[in-house]
Amino acid sequence: MKEVNGVNRFRSMTPPASTATLVLPVPTAAVAHAERVPTTRRYLMCEPRHFTVEYSINPWMDPTRPVDTALAVAQWNALVATYESLGHRVERIDPVDGLPDMVFAANSGTVIGGRVLGARFRAPQRAAEADHYRRWFLDHGYRDVVMPTRVNEAEGDLTWTGEVLLAGTGFRTDPAAHAEAQEALGVPVVSLSLVDPAYYHLDVALVVLSEATRARPAHIAYYPGAFSPGTRSALRRLYPDAVLATEADAACLGLNAVSDGRNVVLAAEATHLAAELEAHGYTPHPVDISELRKSGGGPKCCTMELRG
Ligand code: ARG
Repeated sequence: MKEVNGVNRFRSMTPPASTATLVLPVPTAAVAHAERVPTTRRYLMCEPRHFTVEYSINPWMDPTRPVDTALAVAQWNALVATYESLGHRVERIDPVDGLPDMVFAANSGTVIGGRVLGARFRAPQRAAEADHYRRWFLDHGYRDVVMPTRVNEAEGDLTWTGEVLLAGTGFRTDPAAHAEAQEALGVPVVSLSLVDPAYYHLDVALVVLSEATRARPAHIAYYPGAFSPGTRSALRRLYPDAVLATEADAACLGLNAVSDGRNVVLAAEATHLAAELEAHGYTPHPVDISELRKSGGGPKCCTMELRG
């Protein structure tokens, strides 16, 4: 237990004046969750220097609505600074003019144990991004880089829990890509069906808050309304202790969050979700993502995790 709420650890150590009864320390809520332990992460991100909304491939994208690219860059820099202040390392890939969605690094690779499964985009407008990221991996010492043959939008739809890869389908990633992911990464895959076009990627509907360890199952948050009835009951069976997000949490892309096991970086508007997370022992770090949200993205979309 690290210096977590050190001052607040015990409710009261003072015994009642009139008796000699030994009063044992009673844990507060904070102590009950003091096991939320952050681990340092390595992320790959892409500055939104060429960010615009000039085509529409999800319901968030309205090309007639103006986008402030300079503000997007400022918000992205603040996101990077947040990660760095939490002790995480941020690698950068150069943005490419003409690829306005390249800022959404999470869509271009899934890296587990140093193995890389690249991306294959559904929309032709994004297709070229995959090869820029593939080359970044090769230039940065990754030897085991596999490119998918089926549509696979990487961490947009593939979420590592520490023991299984949760894999979304319905709008982008092809269900056949789930089996490919299992072969390429050598991890068990659990398929989940998305049904609401506003939540077209798994990472806008579900977030892993703390990964599974030998001692504990993974802890997640999700918005049930984004999933088919069968998937909802599968999620209930797998994660009975999950934090259930409300529609308002999901509608500001609050679930498109990044957790290090304790600190959760999420959209500032997701106040209800932030309070729930706090009650579960996490520390929310709100960020302003107003510009990237015009493209249907939030903190997680901008952040690919490099695991091993
Ligand atoms: N405009 C992008 C698209 O529709 C947003 C991608 C967001 N990324 C994510 N990981 N959900 O493809």
